[in-house]
Amino acid sequence: MQARVARAEKLASLGQLAAGVAHEINNPLTSILLNAHLVLESRPPGDPAAEKVRLIAEETARCSRIVKGLLEFARQAPPERSPVDLNDLLERTAALLAGQAGESGIRIESRLDRSLPLLDLDPAQVQQVLWNLVLNACEAMPAGGTVTIESRRSADGLAAEVVVLDTGVGIPPENLGRVFDPFFTTKKAGTGLGLAVSYGLVEQHGGSIEVQSEAGRGSTFTIKWPLTDGGSR
Ligand SMILES: Nc1ncnc2c1ncn2[C@@H]1O[C@H](COP(=O)(O)OP(=O)(O)O)[C@@H](O)[C@H]1O
Ligand SMILES: [Mg+2]
Repeated sequence: MQARVARAEKLASLGQLAAGVAHEINNPLTSILLNAHLVLESRPPGDPAAEKVRLIAEETARCSRIVKGLLEFARQAPPERSPVDLNDLLERTAALLAGQAGESGIRIESRLDRSLPLLDLDPAQVQQVLWNLVLNACEAMPAGGTVTIESRRSADGLAAEVVVLDTGVGIPPENLGRVFDPFFTTKKAGTGLGLAVSYGLVEQHGGSIEVQSEAGRGSTFTIKWPLTDGGSR
């Protein structure tokens, strides 16, 4: 509980700071990127300076991604709730990522409980969370594998659960407590904001998100939303 409160406070204060900084940095970054591309285009083929400008453009693009992530993170728009079919969102996310995943030798499998009731959630925000989880799962399997997306009722029947499971590299025990921290990343081009944003969005909906993992074997992320109305459809 204490850890939860500490995390919520950390997210809130960081969010405010992030919003301010991100807004200020966004415009100059766009300008740097644009000009780097202009210089790049004006260089003759094989110009040794071009490689350096390309690096400038690449790293600037990375900064842009971080800033974009920060803005998403800081937006903290209150959820616009409407009745949502979780299975529908899961299928849409799988369809959006299936092509890209297939190219990397990754199969996306779905196990959906069709009897789940509609939930009062913000579909765009939930979609963003699912997208982050499935993308992470794919990124954890550089040599291919399977992402399993599951919807189900919790064992006690009081919650709807979404599970995203992969057969990827897994998370070593010393990192398990850090993956939801803003800016924690082990990826070369990562922002470390996907899970922090997802954590905030799920909490905003009164849900919870948990991770289990074994290094070398894969990871399982489980989201839970309470079923308040007893689940009639
Ligand atoms: N499915 C997964 N398998 C293994 N590691 C993961 C998985 N999802 C997240 N992680 C770890 O958590 C870190 C943070 O994830 P995230 O917040 O999405 O940021 P990013 O993807 O930009 O690194 C990742 O860099 C990775 O180390
Ligand atoms: Mg990510």
